Amino acid sequence: MSKTILRALAGETLPTPPIWMMRQAGRYLPEYRATRAQAGDFLSLCYNPELAAEVTLQPIRRYGFDAAILFADILLLPQALGADLWFVTGEGPRLSTVTTQADFDRLGRGEMIHETLSPIYETVRILKGALPSETTLIGFAGAPWTVATYMIAGRGTPDQGPAHALKAENRPLFKALIDRLTESTVDYLSCQIEAGAEVVKLFDSWAGSLKGQDFDDFCLAPAKRIIAELKARHPDTPIIAFPREAGERYIGFAKATGADCVAIDNSVSPEWAASHVQVDGCVQGNLASRHMVTGGQPLVDETRHVVEAFRGGPHIFNLGHGITPDADPDNVQLMIDTVREG
Ligand code: CP3
Repeated sequence: MSKTILRALAGETLPTPPIWMMRQAGRYLPEYRATRAQAGDFLSLCYNPELAAEVTLQPIRRYGFDAAILFADILLLPQALGADLWFVTGEGPRLSTVTTQADFDRLGRGEMIHETLSPIYETVRILKGALPSETTLIGFAGAPWTVATYMIAGRGTPDQGPAHALKAENRPLFKALIDRLTESTVDYLSCQIEAGAEVVKLFDSWAGSLKGQDFDDFCLAPAKRIIAELKARHPDTPIIAFPREAGERYIGFAKATGADCVAIDNSVSPEWAASHVQVDGCVQGNLASRHMVTGGQPLVDETRHVVEAFRGGPHIFNLGHGITPDADPDNVQLMIDTVREG
C-alpha cells in the first residue's frame, strides 16, 4: 500500500504528512471559474461527469495534492430525495423546506436516490481512470444533522435555529428526517465506494451547535450507524469524520463512531488535538483557512506549527475548514512547499 493518505489512515506515522485541502476545487482557482462558466451554473457542473471530473483534477495538476475529493455537494442528496434545490449567486443554497409531516411524506427513500445521483457515480468512475497512481480519491456526504439543518430552514443559517426549533417542537418528525438521511447516506456512500472512491468523508459542518445529549443522539449516533453499515458492506474503506467545532466532543469521537480519522477545525489548538484526539489514531487538519488569503511568514510559521504538533502520530495535513474564494493560489503553493520541505 503506497498511497500516503491510505497509510496515514491505517495509523502509520509518516515523516511528511500527506496533504489535501477542503474545497480545493473552487472559485479561488481561475481554471475552476472557467470550467464553471462553461458548465453554466454550479449544479450543472456537479451533474456533468466530464466537467466535474475536470475540476476535481485541476488542483491535482496544479499542486500535486495527495488526495482528490470528488466534486459534488452535500445538498445533492436532499435533491435526490425530492427536495427542490437551487443556488442564489452570492448568497448560497436554497431548498424547499421540510417542517411538516406532509413535507416529510413527499420525500422518497431507498433506491430512488440513484436516479438523480448516478452522474456523481460516473464522475467517480472517470476519476478512477484519470488520477495519478499515488493520488487517493475521496468521496463524501453531509452528515444527517448538517443536511437536515439546510432541509428544515431551506437555506444556510448562522445558528441552525429552525432545525433546533423543529427538534424541540416535533421530535418524532425531526428524528424521522435524521433516520431517513442516515439510511440514504449509507446507500449514497456505498455507491460512491462501488464506483471507485477509496476513502469517504462525512461532513458534519454544524456539529458544534449540538450540545450534551443532542450531540450524542444527532451527531454521534448517526455517524456511528453510517460507519457501521458502511464497514459491513466495505470493510476496507477508511472513513474520515468531521464533526466541525465539536470542541471537547472531539475526544473519543473516533472510538465511539468507528471512524478511522477525525478531521479537526481550527477552533482547537493542534497541541490540544494531538494530546486528546491523535492518541486514538489519525487526525486531519487544522491550519486556519485565512492563511490562504493573508500568506507571508505567518502562513509559513503556522504551517510548521501544525506539522510539528502532529509529528508524533498519524496525520493528514489540511485546513480547518474549506478554502475561501478570496484565497491566493500562490499561498496554497507556499503551504504545500512548507509541509513538504520536511
Ligand atoms: O471540498 C471540495 O472541493 C469538494 C466539493 C465540495 C463542495 N461542497 C463544492 C462546492 C464539498 C465537499 C462541499 C461540502 C459542503 N457543501 C458543505 C460541508 C462542508 C463545509 O463547507 O462546511 C456544505 C455545508 C455545503 C453546502 C454549500 N454548498 C454551501 C453552503 C454553498 C455556498 C457557499 C459557497 O461557498 O458558495 C455551497 C456551494 C459550493 N459547494 C461551492 C463549491 C465549490 C461554490 C459554488 C460555486 O462555484 O459558486
